[in-house]
Amino acid sequence: MKKPRIGSFLSVVLTLLAVYALVKWGIPAVSREVTTLPFPLPVPGTLMFFYMVLTIVALFLFVTFSEEGLSDFLKPVKKFLRGGYTKSLRAVVLTAIPALIGWQVYEITVPKVEVPSSLRIQHPSSNFPKSFEAKKNPFSSPTEAEVDAFIEQAKANEVVFIPQVRDDVERWVDEIGPDHVLEFFPVAPMMKLLAQLQSGDVDKETAKAALIEKYLFEGRALYAMNCRACHGDSVAGDGPMADGFKLRPINFADNGTIETIVEGYTFWRVTNGGPGLPNEATPWDSAMPEWKLSLTEEQRWRIILAEYNLAQKTPRMPESH
Ligand code: HEC
Repeated sequence: MKKPRIGSFLSVVLTLLAVYALVKWGIPAVSREVTTLPFPLPVPGTLMFFYMVLTIVALFLFVTFSEEGLSDFLKPVKKFLRGGYTKSLRAVVLTAIPALIGWQVYEITVPKVEVPSSLRIQHPSSNFPKSFEAKKNPFSSPTEAEVDAFIEQAKANEVVFIPQVRDDVERWVDEIGPDHVLEFFPVAPMMKLLAQLQSGDVDKETAKAALIEKYLFEGRALYAMNCRACHGDSVAGDGPMADGFKLRPINFADNGTIETIVEGYTFWRVTNGGPGLPNEATPWDSAMPEWKLSLTEEQRWRIILAEYNLAQKTPRMPESH
């Protein structure tokens, strides 16, 4: 007995629909099973395109493999075009197809009111107050009075640290029992200063370099407490929380970030965070906190000093320089 078979035209149509359904709903459903995540992994449009093109090519080869195959495929089409299935069906389909295509073309070309899909502007400046532009980091070039005060503190072995690191330094002093608290910093400028303190002949340049080392240490500590979770130990924007945000925390080591902006701008961005960004920095809300709410101005500047240092970058010079 001959197997009842559906025509080759219908099987082509059904295969196309089946492959489409598999990619559109099957893969996301399987992905949920495999990943055990509460949401399906999306199938990118390009992947769908590839699958469908490959399916069409395969079906084309299959249909045109032999003369009989092709005429088998075309039989219902020809019958339909000759009005073999009823004339009214032909009229309906032949009107519907051009109308559908026309409607699609209209949908694609008609201008729409929507947010332009432009790329996000990383360094928006429309609401950047001019007064910030010339701001300098007070900790990158301490004044003479600050250096003098530091020398006095160093001489008396009573160096003042910010409260956030004081406990740690004191604990270290208790454990190690050093001759001088500045031995905490095993870096060249500090060693030089300690040697000069011993000989009693301290020069200001050395003291200034040593003071900046102290500021850097404090800044790094504040960075670790406040910024590390997002921007990461390596300042590459890969902290433990970084993957949780659609708009990733910035990689400061990248050449296109804090190196291309003046310090005052960095200060403004840190101060106002995501909520302070103008519209051109959308889409996607920035998770960057508004640091003026929880850090003092001095703390913010210390962190910025450490941020540039950790990233091994220097800020851009303001235009007037
Ligand atoms: C909750 C996560 C989070 C924390 C914590 C965080 N940031 Fe961010 N930060 C971001 C995100 C996300 C961006 C990128 C989006 C943007 O431009 O606002 C960003 C951007 C920045 C930028 C802009 C860089 C550029 O070139 O445009 C600076 C500067 C910055 N952060 C500094 C800091 C400092 C300093 C701290 C700590 C005081 C900090 N961030 C803490 C999430 C965070």
